[in-house]
Amino acid sequence: DSFQFPRDGRSVTQCRICDTPIKAFMTFGRMPIANGFLTPDQFPQEHFFELAPAFCPECGMLQIVEQPAPEMMFHENYAFFSGTSRYMQMHFQRMAEQVMATILAGRSDPFVVELGSNDGIMLRNFAAKGIRHLGCEPSENVAAVARSQGVNTLCAFFGRDTALKIRAEHGPADVIQAANVMCHIPDLQGVAKGVEALLKPDGVLIFEDPYLGDVIEKTSYDQIYDEHVFVFSAISVKNAFARHGLDLVNVEPQVTHGGSMRYTLAPKGSRPVASAVEALLAKEVAQGLDKAATYDRFRANCETSKRELVALLTRLKGEGKRVVGYGATSKSTTVLNYTGIGPDLIEFISDTTPIKQGKLTPGMHIPVKPYGDFTARYPDYALLFAWNHKAEIMEKEDAFKAAGGQWIVYVPSVGVV
Ligand code: TYD
Repeated sequence: DSFQFPRDGRSVTQCRICDTPIKAFMTFGRMPIANGFLTPDQFPQEHFFELAPAFCPECGMLQIVEQPAPEMMFHENYAFFSGTSRYMQMHFQRMAEQVMATILAGRSDPFVVELGSNDGIMLRNFAAKGIRHLGCEPSENVAAVARSQGVNTLCAFFGRDTALKIRAEHGPADVIQAANVMCHIPDLQGVAKGVEALLKPDGVLIFEDPYLGDVIEKTSYDQIYDEHVFVFSAISVKNAFARHGLDLVNVEPQVTHGGSMRYTLAPKGSRPVASAVEALLAKEVAQGLDKAATYDRFRANCETSKRELVALLTRLKGEGKRVVGYGATSKSTTVLNYTGIGPDLIEFISDTTPIKQGKLTPGMHIPVKPYGDFTARYPDYALLFAWNHKAEIMEKEDAFKAAGGQWIVYVPSVGVV
């Protein structure tokens, strides 16, 4: 835990939201770019940073101290395509339908903006209904997929300048949405200023991200990686946006990404605050999300999880069992590099995303192979890195079970199921 990696100048000593001095309560050690799947010729250039989370005692924001430059994570070869999960497609369809049926109901010619719109998985639902929309997406390759499906997309990082540009061209927005994006943006203040500049006085900002309450409860430490500069709670979201004239008016738990929270914010005083907000704030205090001691316990739980996973895989290897990973998730990069689990313990990781196949995982360099390699010769054990898609995956992997295969999970605790 004494690992100290050279800083690249993007690490902070003060909270990104309220400037209070902060210090990491633990380190996951030397970490590569979570989606930086690579080929052997790229090993010498592989970038590492120190992954270490800190908790702000003042505003309650959980954040990583150092984050690599955005261009290192989001670029023309970004490996993450939202559309790969059928459940996620249904989830975003439902979310879009809810927005249309509530906030947009009765509005003439409404305008919907989405930040980090990826391959258009959410906005395609608005496009299909002929609703004016614009995605703002910094990774050109995924933006191109969205455009090819009729989703209007601007390839840019969102901030006040982009917001003013969008407003000048399209007018103010009725709804600004973001899913699994807001927690990626270190300059949350800049985004909030952009929202202030673009949103109608009776508009709303709706975003959802992995929820800190679930991360603490389930020891799902793998939600912490380079892209996730923040892990939000109602406490920290309320505090962060209050500084920019936005009230937290609703919270809705989601099952996606292993436990997420959807936050609705509106210009100060423009909407009643749902009772769910007070209830969740009270629950978070009861859970201790506002107390440093909670994060010390979390660190101890991470250490236990690490020890148990390494012990289990080492035992299975000793017994001559074949273990294969299932889903080369971003999250798995934290698990593999924190635990030091490499190709000696995991033969390969199966993944359906073409851009990841044939490459090696960041840092630990485990081969990523097409799904067909998993089904062609089932291993004895499959380590479920895509645990957030457990229901969807279990539903389609009966044959693996029937062939005697077993699943290894590590959330909420390490075990064989
Ligand atoms: P995801 O869970 O969205 O995780 P993260 O945000 O941590 O990257 O990524 C899921 C990964 O798992 C993605 O690379 C696709 C892969 N996957 C499969 O290989 N098979 C499946 O059945 C599912 C649902 C996902």
